[in-house]
Amino acid sequence: MDIKLTNQSIETIACDALVIGVAYQRPEQQSPVLSRTAGLVNGQLGGLLQELITSGEFKGEVSELATIHTMGKLAAKRVVLVGLGKQEKLQAQAMQRACGTAARYLQNTGAHSITLACMLEDARLDIEAQAQAEIEGALTGIYTFKKYQHVNSVANERAISKINVIADAAQHAGLESACQRAIALSEATNFARDLVNEPPNVLTPTELANRASLVAKQFGLDFEVLDRPQMQELGMGGLLSVSQGSAEPAKFIIMHYRGAPTPTAKDVVLIGKGITFDTGGISIKPAENMYKMKGDMAGAAAVIGALYAIAALKPAINVTVLVPTTENMPSGTAYRPGDILRIMNGKTIEIVNTDAEGRLVLADALSYAVIKEQAATIIDVATLTGGIVVALGSVMSGVFCNDDGLSAEIIAAGQAAGEKFWRMPLDDEYAEAIHSDVADIKQTGGRPASSVTAAKILEHFVGDTHWAHLDIAGTDFSDTKKSYQEKGATGFAARTLAELVLKRAE
Ligand code: BES
Ligand code: MN
Ligand code: ZN
Repeated sequence: MDIKLTNQSIETIACDALVIGVAYQRPEQQSPVLSRTAGLVNGQLGGLLQELITSGEFKGEVSELATIHTMGKLAAKRVVLVGLGKQEKLQAQAMQRACGTAARYLQNTGAHSITLACMLEDARLDIEAQAQAEIEGALTGIYTFKKYQHVNSVANERAISKINVIADAAQHAGLESACQRAIALSEATNFARDLVNEPPNVLTPTELANRASLVAKQFGLDFEVLDRPQMQELGMGGLLSVSQGSAEPAKFIIMHYRGAPTPTAKDVVLIGKGITFDTGGISIKPAENMYKMKGDMAGAAAVIGALYAIAALKPAINVTVLVPTTENMPSGTAYRPGDILRIMNGKTIEIVNTDAEGRLVLADALSYAVIKEQAATIIDVATLTGGIVVALGSVMSGVFCNDDGLSAEIIAAGQAAGEKFWRMPLDDEYAEAIHSDVADIKQTGGRPASSVTAAKILEHFVGDTHWAHLDIAGTDFSDTKKSYQEKGATGFAARTLAELVLKRAE
């Protein structure tokens, strides 16, 4: 992919399509007003853009498209107008989705080279953030996962391989770094999507560790994988129990990015749930949607993806990634309801449903972060509960956090990344549901508030550490195709985590 900022005059840029963003300028004025760039193109085309708008044909709603063939009036073969919605409300997500929609549409209609001219002069979102969102939208919008289809070769022929981004000469320096950020964050997101989209016969715990090791090698990160004997040594009873029914060996992946010479209070440990296939185990899931549980390692994909972007952008901060990864399978050696396990920090858990496996593997990883890494801040990411899907659907992810500042930081980083998070409670009254008569903790609290009681279990393993738990079940995977995204993995949270780390390092 060739991506270039350019201040070449817009009518002379030769490409398959020129993408122009159009927003409403004032809320009371439903009709969109043209940006300076759009005005130039409108002039070249004899007022065609303005006519599309005044006729009411093009309204400027987010992701609305209109195509104009230039018939030689510009060096670009086509002009595509894309709606950005209300200018005052413009956020990264709308810019991403609009540019994703346009780029995806153009790729599907045979464009190879496109030029993006979507930035607005007087939006509240600053120009660097607009440029970043514009490029990120396009790069994540054209993502496809076709490696197991014969049409693959055709899809490749259709791929967009060149993107020009219109940039004012005066703003060039700031926009150059916005462009680098966009590329790193998009690659990270698409990398995470690939991991989630891979079938579970390919992406085993061993293969997940291999893919993580490739990232480590590419960026020169410290990398280590713990195997069963080391897990036994450390007393990781959660991860070991969940994995004991599977023929695939469990792995505990440890990655270190060191951007600061010594440990600092800003440093972050990121933990991702890495269940490469969740059958439910002995408490087996119904057959109908079980295949979707190949995505139960989306938390792992998000944190490894985030580290990819972080390592590419080199902020001055230290980041550790921990991934407990295993399958959850039923078999003669599988763990059972009724079992009592001991987690690495010594606490015992009474198993009542082997399908609540995520909290068990996370309990060991959280304990490891506290005991071995002396973490200052821990953020775990997991497709943890069906309960969060009931609560928030596929629009937002839940944040459970023992620190108001950290929670606000995550929500703000999410907004910058175009991903929405909503804070959920950790009130102590919810802990009554996970009281056990025979162990320190009962593994599940039943159906009511199940995403909250799951988080209350995790809280037992973080001590006094600043900690947030992101439940991304529901947002990690799109069951329908979107104009800006194909059906399947979304790569959710990779960008938010990377944004948070970049902000912290500033
Ligand atoms: N991986 C699932 C949660 C999940 C559900 C992810 C739907 C994505 C979409 C998790 O391991 C699980 O099975 N959770 C159970 C826990 C229950 C048995 C206490 C749930 O939430 O139903
Ligand atoms: Mn499960
Ligand atoms: Zn699971």
